Amino acid sequence: METMSEQAVFPPSPEFSSRAHVPSLDAYRDLCRQAEQHPEEFFSALAEKELTWFKPWDHPFEWNPPFVKWFVGGTLNASYNCVDRHVEAGNGSKVALHWIGEPGDTRDITYAELHVMVSRFANMLKARGLKPGDRAIIYMPMVPEAVAAMLGCARLGVTHSVVFGGFSAEALKARIQDLEASAVITADGGWRRGKTLNLKGAVDDAIAAECPSVHTVIVLKRTENEITMTAGRDVWWHDLDATVTDDCPPEHLDAEHPLYVLYTSGTTGKPKGILHTTGGYLLHAVLTMKWVFDLKPDDIYWCSADIGWVTGHTYIVYGPLAAGATQIMYEGAPDFPAWDRWWQIAAQYKATIFYTSPTAIRALIKQGEHLPNAHDLSSLRLLGSVGEPINPAAWEWYHRVIGKGRCPIVDTWWQTETGGVLIAPMPGATPLKPGSGTLPMPGILAEVVDFEGKPVGVNQEGFLIIKRPWPSMMRTIWRDPARFEQNYFSRIPGIYFTGDAARRDEDGYFWILGRVDDVMNVSGHRLSTMEIESALVRHPAVAEAAVVGKPHEITGQAVCCFVTLKQGNWDNHKLGIELRQWIAHEIGSFARPEEIRFTEALPKTRSGKIMRRLLREIVTSHTVSGDVTTLEDLGVVTKLAAQHDED
Ligand code: WTA
Repeated sequence: METMSEQAVFPPSPEFSSRAHVPSLDAYRDLCRQAEQHPEEFFSALAEKELTWFKPWDHPFEWNPPFVKWFVGGTLNASYNCVDRHVEAGNGSKVALHWIGEPGDTRDITYAELHVMVSRFANMLKARGLKPGDRAIIYMPMVPEAVAAMLGCARLGVTHSVVFGGFSAEALKARIQDLEASAVITADGGWRRGKTLNLKGAVDDAIAAECPSVHTVIVLKRTENEITMTAGRDVWWHDLDATVTDDCPPEHLDAEHPLYVLYTSGTTGKPKGILHTTGGYLLHAVLTMKWVFDLKPDDIYWCSADIGWVTGHTYIVYGPLAAGATQIMYEGAPDFPAWDRWWQIAAQYKATIFYTSPTAIRALIKQGEHLPNAHDLSSLRLLGSVGEPINPAAWEWYHRVIGKGRCPIVDTWWQTETGGVLIAPMPGATPLKPGSGTLPMPGILAEVVDFEGKPVGVNQEGFLIIKRPWPSMMRTIWRDPARFEQNYFSRIPGIYFTGDAARRDEDGYFWILGRVDDVMNVSGHRLSTMEIESALVRHPAVAEAAVVGKPHEITGQAVCCFVTLKQGNWDNHKLGIELRQWIAHEIGSFARPEEIRFTEALPKTRSGKIMRRLLREIVTSHTVSGDVTTLEDLGVVTKLAAQHDED
């Protein structure tokens, strides 16, 4: 079925190249040469050109492995760069956001209007006593106020941490505690598939106990949901807004001021707070808008991600707005009220650039070509993909049905940790090979190496590493620099270890093969096997649990749990349903397991380590019945495994 030849190559059309920011492979190579030979000069020149600084830096770069600083001593403000400077340049009337609510309400917000929203929100935070260095959690639906909240924090130097609305109260609590956040910004609800999310209820549950740091909860009214307000702590957005002015000069912040912390799953039960700072992050965000998305002033750009993930941070908020783009922002689900909602929006607003994930494309393929074909998608000129390798069938459909064979597809490889795209085509320069992220960005010294850090041969599998720090690299794990070093810089000392396996072909193209650790990729979202296992064993019935990713037609991988039970009289059918619900409660609905398998024992090595590799084989090669209560006797496998005693 998946038959597109790996040899298929799609060179850029002369028409696309002639107008592109980077118009040829030679131009791309020239940028790479400059960046490799003189990285400090290269990035300094671009930082001067692309960003507006209050004070220039003293040194472009400081590297004390594993800690990096860029533009040391320089000051700037991310919200100024994303909003004010466009207004000052006379573009205040340009639309920043064409926003579409799920129920069908719409708003067009200009840069001048966004400037007012951001300034007022920063003043609201000030009125509640927040100051530079404090932390605020943003737990909101996809509404313009969420963007204003992020930029309002940035304006003041309050470090934000956006928590995806699908996370549970438990997950929210853990993040509030780790950050010792002073404020939570939320809404009375948000629309998803015609229903409302009870965000405020989750906030109440999260901070009911053990969150003493939170003194303020700001609540946006988005639905008619009934919520409870706690006097003194909770305040309506509109009430607070009525007390402030439009005038809020941006703070002059150090280039290394912490802009945001975004939590992502690692190989332990505890999520990692990835820290990004201001200057280097913003530079890479704006550069990749031009290099990868080839953004022009008249583009209508649309990234379908949620602001709760890093893609939403870099490619809805900081990148497009710093670049002065007009973009589309949609609140709800792609299948509401019907599966052509995205195409209807793209046609109505004449989207020119569209960026989504392979999992979404696969879900859309299933609904049939007649849905996109019923809409005029001729405005599109560039398509993007992120989250996992794009499989040939999805690539072919995306290219033919959505792009009508005209639009290049930029397959963008990156991570929460990398801050922005590191490996991707430059669409006017790079010939595409479906399934490959192609070549690294200038200054990104990517390589595929073996256990000792030695480069492997052409087409050999190995670990993907980045040999030199780049401007938007994560700076540390919040409150855990030791884990930062251990996770990313200890395999090969001083070298960034991505956690992905890859190979490089004869043209130097990178092919990403997936994670080498216990991190799953479900619908393009990272989930930790350990995090789900820890949650499972917190349930009173569960003795032990092992979680593996199982191949899935739409989501790429699905969560499959092997569970042994404590003594007792359990109804496996009921318990299976309960445990799936339990995970949704402990982590979030998007982590809900596809399958729970009860077993007498888990296969372990003699030293007692669970052999997940074996379990992965079981779920990959066996046809599995849809029954979640299948009792599987792993006794034989367990014995076999113990004999081999792998570690
Ligand atoms: C995977 C999302 C192949 C990869 C921006 C990485 C990809 C992890 C691609 C990061 C791609 C992301 N091709 N694999 N184009 N994009 N990945 O932190 O395994 O949510 O390490 O960042 O997703 O996921 P994260």
